[in-house]
Amino acid sequence: MELGIALVGFGNVAQGLARILIRKRDLLTTRYGIIPVVKAVVTGSKGTLWDPSGLDLEAVLDSMADLENLSGVSALPATIDEILKGDEISVVVDTTPTDLVTGEPGLSIIKRAIESGKHVVSSSKGPVSVALPELTDLATRHGVAYRFEGALLSGTPSINLAMEAMAGCDVVKVQGIVNGTTNYILTRMEEGMGYEDALAEAQDRGYAETDPSGDVDGWDAAVKAQIIASVIMGEPISLDQVERRGISEISRSDVLAALDRGNRIKLIAQVERRGRDVVASVSPMELPLDHPLAGVMGATNAITYETDNLKDVTIVGPGAGREETGQALLADLLAIFRERGGLVVRRSA
Ligand SMILES: NC(=O)c1ccc[n+]([C@@H]2O[C@H](COP(=O)([O-])OP(=O)(O)OC[C@H]3O[C@@H](n4cnc5c(N)ncnc54)[C@H](OP(=O)(O)O)[C@@H]3O)[C@@H](O)[C@H]2O)c1
Repeated sequence: MELGIALVGFGNVAQGLARILIRKRDLLTTRYGIIPVVKAVVTGSKGTLWDPSGLDLEAVLDSMADLENLSGVSALPATIDEILKGDEISVVVDTTPTDLVTGEPGLSIIKRAIESGKHVVSSSKGPVSVALPELTDLATRHGVAYRFEGALLSGTPSINLAMEAMAGCDVVKVQGIVNGTTNYILTRMEEGMGYEDALAEAQDRGYAETDPSGDVDGWDAAVKAQIIASVIMGEPISLDQVERRGISEISRSDVLAALDRGNRIKLIAQVERRGRDVVASVSPMELPLDHPLAGVMGATNAITYETDNLKDVTIVGPGAGREETGQALLADLLAIFRERGGLVVRRSA
């Protein structure tokens, strides 16, 4: 079955997905029975490519600086609305930048895609944070899927693990190291660095932005706690309802004093059911060294789900990266077609 795809946003994550689609082209067909065909690539400033018979992804990846001059690309109308109008596209993959205040530009793009009857997979936290109930309701009314596994722990399966693999379990409490930058800084502080030097190193390595407040002040972790509460605990809350404290006031001596007590300081996103309420917070916590999250070091992420049927389930893995997040988009694409009976899993003999 051919799967027509529009990539809206073609930065790190979409290029990661493109590379996976190229590498796994044969396997996707033989194992799952789908032929993914990327027909549109839409960027913010580098132009739009649209070829209903399918773009040459290798050529697109090679020509990122000058998409408009790419040879062999049709000059058909290429606004998003033109691309969404026909039935060439089945799925819109949104990887536009995240704006936690407005949810844009992803929010408007996702709404237009759903209203045009297209499935949406997205790695952007903004639209989930700002408009999850509206988007899920819209998707239900239009009979399409809206999935966003990559918004929580990139490709480490966290939403789909809780919602699908652990279906039937009640999740009563979640604790997570959901921001790799802050975990990296705390790790380096334990290894001997001061806060400022560890932050500078995280910036040099590309983990932290030039303005690192989204990470160190806990905003990124807070929106992930909001996603956990809204999606996994089924209690839609606003970002304001997440109590938030970052790591900027943690010193190296705090880190070492905690170690002397047999504990490790971690920035923990915690979401807990208390009676009829769900309470969400982000704060530095001292965890005993035998806690499942205490040994998670560097830029790695992890989540522990406390459940009724399984007790504690912990998943550890990357929380960022091009192909890592591309993997989340691929898993969502495959899930959409599995749910709709369009996906055939063929095991090799
Ligand atoms: N990178 C990660 O490891 C990671 C992990 C998890 C989640 N995420 C989330 O995934 C999303 C993508 O991340 P990224 O690292 O790939 O970002 P990125 O490299 O900055 O790419 C963003 C892409 O979106 C395009 N874009 C901007 N405004 C647009 C618009 N109005 N219409 C269409 N395209 C537009 C940009 O085009 P121009 O460059 O031409 O403006 C660019 O191609 C973000 O929401 C991010 O928070 C990223």
